[in-house]
Amino acid sequence: MSRIVALTGATGFIGAAIARRLKAADWQIRALVRPTSRRDHLDGLGLHWIEGALSDPESLRRLVLGADAVVHCAGAVRGADSEDFIRVNKHGVSRLVQAATEQLPKPRFLLISSLAAREPHLSPYAASKRQGEEELAAGAGEMPWAALRPSVVYGPGDKELLSLFRLMYRGVGLVLGPTDARFSMLYVDDLAEAVAQWLKCGNTRQRVFEVHDGQPDGYSWDDLIKTMARVREGRVRPVRISAPFLSILASINFVAAQAAGYAPMLTPGKVRELRHSNWVGDNTLFTRETGWIPLVRLEAGLRRILKPDSRSH
Ligand SMILES: NC(=O)c1ccc[n+]([C@@H]2O[C@H](COP(=O)([O-])OP(=O)(O)OC[C@H]3O[C@@H](n4cnc5c(N)ncnc54)[C@H](OP(=O)(O)O)[C@@H]3O)[C@@H](O)[C@H]2O)c1
Repeated sequence: MSRIVALTGATGFIGAAIARRLKAADWQIRALVRPTSRRDHLDGLGLHWIEGALSDPESLRRLVLGADAVVHCAGAVRGADSEDFIRVNKHGVSRLVQAATEQLPKPRFLLISSLAAREPHLSPYAASKRQGEEELAAGAGEMPWAALRPSVVYGPGDKELLSLFRLMYRGVGLVLGPTDARFSMLYVDDLAEAVAQWLKCGNTRQRVFEVHDGQPDGYSWDDLIKTMARVREGRVRPVRISAPFLSILASINFVAAQAAGYAPMLTPGKVRELRHSNWVGDNTLFTRETGWIPLVRLEAGLRRILKPDSRSH
């Protein structure tokens, strides 16, 4: 009989990839969904939907009832102020951990955190992801858990990076960070595979793991532009956006978002994340723990999303 996994965030970019991967590994998936969520892109996957929200403890209890594992992928990635992030990324974790620890036997619990949690001082998002990890560690008791800290995740279905990549693919290479900055990347299917491997491995050590695509020192903006030039088989012209200009844009966007009531992505906190020079992760612990090895490096990943019909990858 297949095992049950309770999944949050299945309607989002990463959660949908995790749902597809776990379905292929024969998990029965119980997925939390807000009444307002779009879920038609997951039709046909046979998910068992639980209507609710991270703010609704009763729906979380129904979600985890009798589950063998919980994968908590829902998160706020944009917000107007700290409270928008804390409400979801901290309190959402603690409510779900509480519901999971009430189960007997206790499920394995995997949190999709972020490499941003390594630098909580940089932004309200980063701070809230760190606090989510701390809520998990403090509330889990004996429950086996892990938190994965992916770096920048990209792939089909992503809304945040696709426009930047598309612009680069047309030859305009926006450079939003310092020239000496280095960052790891991770193709979304490799992250979904990491989740599947952790659920399978059976280890009960409670710890935080970094995960990335295996490029040892990550990438610079220059590497990204050169890689894109190979993918498009033409020049990509770097267009450097200065830190002061980016900060002004972020401040305008932040004020506009508060006035118009939308959740902004480009904020002063996001600019501090973009200007940070070291976002390189280290896979060593996670690979040792689970045997997971990422398969898709940046060039192959960009080809998959920008040239899906090409046979070259
Ligand atoms: N994308 C990246 O590069 C990246 C990198 C590192 C870590 N992460 C982490 O990965 C996770 C998923 O990110 P993503 O890029 O897939 O974001 P996404 O596409 O915006 O998906 C977010 C998901 O969380 C759900 N959600 C948000 N608030 C919720 C709430 N209050 N109650 C229930 N569900 C809620 C959303 O549901 P709706 O469909 O209802 O909105 C959606 O399913 C996040 O925890 C993020 O911090 C992302």
